[in-house]
Amino acid sequence: MKKFSGKKISTAVFISGRGTNLQSLINFSQKEKSPIKIELVFSNDKNASGLKRAKIKKINTYYQISKKNNILENELIKRLNRRKIKLICLAGFMKILSKNFIKRFKGKIINIHPSLLPEYKGLDTHRRVLENKEIYTGCTVHHVNSKLDSGKIILQKKIKVLKNDNVKSLAKRVLLEEHKIYPKAIIKMYS
Ligand code: GRF
Repeated sequence: MKKFSGKKISTAVFISGRGTNLQSLINFSQKEKSPIKIELVFSNDKNASGLKRAKIKKINTYYQISKKNNILENELIKRLNRRKIKLICLAGFMKILSKNFIKRFKGKIINIHPSLLPEYKGLDTHRRVLENKEIYTGCTVHHVNSKLDSGKIILQKKIKVLKNDNVKSLAKRVLLEEHKIYPKAIIKMYS
């Protein structure tokens, strides 16, 4: 893959938890071929261990502790604007963003989901895949619109469900593929 020439795209990653996809994006962003520079990691949970991954790499972090279900989007938008964020990667981010927020960053928000969308939108995908005795599953990187897990698909990876798979083993194998396709999807977007 060739070196990315041009100004790198100021990127924010939104997380809620352990942040293994964030880690894969951090690793990717440090390569010459990467079109992105991660300028901000946002979490809706102060204790998300993914925040530590960002701090280790000296990436700016910001979190909110929201008692209600909502995050304070105005404050978040201010910070995104300050850093001229042009791409937002949701990586295990468990909050629903408002229509307003999505409109404000139209075409600039992408997400990774652990299923072959449009199949198995929402939570608990691996359990449902196993219960339905699917032969294949996988993961999808897609644009975010106002409907859950429904935006235009950028890239998917299909894998076989193995006979002995349980939720844990399947989640583990899908996650390995997630770590590969998120960077690939970003390359595809900007090439
Ligand atoms: C991943 O499986 C992702 O597809 C889903 O949430 C999980 C987050 O894992 N949306 P991590 O925090 O990136 O390790």
